[in-house]
Amino acid sequence: MDKFSIRGGTPLKGEIAISGSKNSGLPALAACLLTDQPVVLHRVPRVRDIRTMKSLLASTGAKVDRRGSGPLSVQAERIIRPEAPYDLVKTMRASSLVLGPLVARTGRARVSLPGGCAIGARPINLHMRALEQLGARIRQEHGYVEAEAPEGLHGAAIHFDRITVTGTEDLMMAAVLAKGETILENAAREPEVSDLAELLTRMGAQIQGAGTSTIHIQGVDHLGGAEHTIIPDRIEAGTFLIAGAITGGDITVTGAIAEHLTALLLKLGEAGVEVDTGGGRIHVRSSGSLRAVDATTEEYPGFPTDLQAQFMALMTQAEGISFITETIFENRFMHVPELVRMGANIRIEGRQAIVAGKRDLSGAGVIASDLRASASLVLAGLVAKGETIVDRVYHIDRGYEKIEGKLMRAGAQIRRFD
Ligand code: EPU
Repeated sequence: MDKFSIRGGTPLKGEIAISGSKNSGLPALAACLLTDQPVVLHRVPRVRDIRTMKSLLASTGAKVDRRGSGPLSVQAERIIRPEAPYDLVKTMRASSLVLGPLVARTGRARVSLPGGCAIGARPINLHMRALEQLGARIRQEHGYVEAEAPEGLHGAAIHFDRITVTGTEDLMMAAVLAKGETILENAAREPEVSDLAELLTRMGAQIQGAGTSTIHIQGVDHLGGAEHTIIPDRIEAGTFLIAGAITGGDITVTGAIAEHLTALLLKLGEAGVEVDTGGGRIHVRSSGSLRAVDATTEEYPGFPTDLQAQFMALMTQAEGISFITETIFENRFMHVPELVRMGANIRIEGRQAIVAGKRDLSGAGVIASDLRASASLVLAGLVAKGETIVDRVYHIDRGYEKIEGKLMRAGAQIRRFD
């Protein structure tokens, strides 16, 4: 199993290019199941979750092709197996994104229920209930969700009890081929939802309001092929900006969309980091002297839960007390005991972590527990004295494209070893 060795203490400097968004690429690939025509996707990141989704598409009978660093093309001319098997779903919960497209395209789908994961229980009850409202018959058997709609789906007014990102995406993909109009209320407003709507629209779907909490979808009979470029990964960009700030460095991320990161950029500014944006670039500079600020995770446009762990690593280096509240997932503080082992002073009270800084961190052996927790340990390693060994790097490889290469080019002392 791969590990990272990190020697902290070097301020990062230079430019880091941002890859395409993992959480946009995943639903975009699932959307390819909605048409028998080829779909060509540019800027799909080369990360493990995307590879898992490619395997999933291939197992349904779709042809998936990518040459070198070129675009990824998918053609699901015929779906021979409308199924997401347990082996794939257990490694990636977002596999449930194929439920909506498969039942919309073929009238049936069999998708393994995802188990819990490191950050919480993560049920898909809201996806299932909404699909039932579109006319699908849903059964749960042997750990699988079986959905059937032999006569096709029909439009409905759906109100999500709570905001769900992949739930909104799954239902949008089901509704584009349903008869009549679907209205999704209390929909997720994440940029990844808008990006999916843009791809679906290019394929011939009729969608209005994506990016707001009410989405109107007028079903069509068929969708066609399309070409689309995935948006840049805002969480990857945010992670590198925090890397610049935590090391007292000077980092510019290129090819990012600053508006997607407003909540983080405001917090960095409050903490005393110099931030400027323009022309697809975001620049941070820090003297290393930081103030503690509070952060509460919320759905977009609030502070993203996917940056909470990384921001907490930063707050270990700020003067004062910072209250960090996690409202999206019930168990997303797995990085805390590891940060504490490195010398951080953090106490957890329910959904709140209380970080007292500034504490000097010292390198230690730590274990990555999930994707973003692992990123926070890498950030802590970049500022810790001595060597940090991060174990189970495969969690990072799920969502960051060549993270060590990008950090190394900015001056970090990080290497991967087996
Ligand atoms: N929820 C339910 N029932 C459902 C669906 C969700 O109770 O049917 C709950 C969840 O348990 C959670 C909350 O609603 O407490 C929000 O979950 P959501 O469905 O929005 O999360 P998701 O769609 O499974 C996506 C991202 C996550 C990101 C969250 C929140 C993808 C592939 N994944 O997950 O990304 O944390 O939205 O923004 O888009 C990551 O990239 O590291 C990651 C975990």
